[in-house]
Amino acid sequence: MHKSSLYLPDRLKGRLAARAVATGRSEADLIREALERALAAAPAAPGAPPPAAVPGRFVGVGVGPGDADLLTVRAVACLRRADRVLAPTTAVDAVGRAEAVVREAVPGLRVERVAFSMSPSLAAREAALRRAAAAVAAHLDAGEEVAWITLGDPLTYSTFASVAERVSRARPETILEAVPGIMAFQALAARTGTVVAGERTRLTIRTALDGEDVSGDLADPSTALVVYKGGRRLPELAGRAAQAGRADTAVAGELLGMPGERTGSLRELAASGPASYLATVIFPAAPAGEA
Ligand SMILES: C[S@@+](CC[C@H](N)C(=O)[O-])C[C@H]1O[C@@H](n2cnc3c(N)ncnc32)[C@H](O)[C@@H]1O
Repeated sequence: MHKSSLYLPDRLKGRLAARAVATGRSEADLIREALERALAAAPAAPGAPPPAAVPGRFVGVGVGPGDADLLTVRAVACLRRADRVLAPTTAVDAVGRAEAVVREAVPGLRVERVAFSMSPSLAAREAALRRAAAAVAAHLDAGEEVAWITLGDPLTYSTFASVAERVSRARPETILEAVPGIMAFQALAARTGTVVAGERTRLTIRTALDGEDVSGDLADPSTALVVYKGGRRLPELAGRAAQAGRADTAVAGELLGMPGERTGSLRELAASGPASYLATVIFPAAPAGEA
């Protein structure tokens, strides 16, 4: 540690003192955190060394839906610099999907699995979340930067938000950051040449895991609809598309960028029955004038 002195204008000093009282943290600690945030956000000068890990920073890294080359440059840089890369998994003795993407994109990188529960029991899920958050907090306390990998984007239907909330509740000084990832529906749109939304189209993204009815969303042909977590219900979704007159344009993708990938019309994919959990459906909006 090096000692630095700095002059602060009264206004800033007053706000800093108030923040220290409100959070129970020292003014020095708050200044250090603000500096780290500012330096981390600053663009690197040409030829400058790659940014170093920031102690106490917890980063959700979106790794895209499956193809290793859909990992962003920023995601790769973050994974390389982090002191620890964690992957949530329901089976700690198996390579999870996000981990497989990272292994291919950044060979040799060490990825640590964290037990996670997808149990229907709320209590079991909450207990697993708390354990995961406690493990993350311990690493942050030890001065590490921790990356948490997640399929697609880390702030949309992702484990990262739930863990981050618990980590920062238990450890308010945590610096939270997210590296956006390409989402499954974007990859499906590109694979199938589907225009998801035009200039003035409304776009709804929703899940259909537990029997939720999507008929209401399909009723308005000027609204494009993306359905996540509906793999098991693919035949039923195809039936709803037919009822709404949207069967000819609806597309589906299963295991995008992964072994066993299938993409095509919803009708085709649904003909072979339910698909896996990793399936996405797009119901594009009708072109303007036809809606
Ligand atoms: C927990 S959510 C993750 C969403 C992810 N955070 C995103 O931004 O795309 C899981 C759902 O995402 C979709 N998904 C994620 N990866 C996929 C893939 N490789 N192929 C098809 N669908 C995928 C599926 O609808 C799946 O049920």
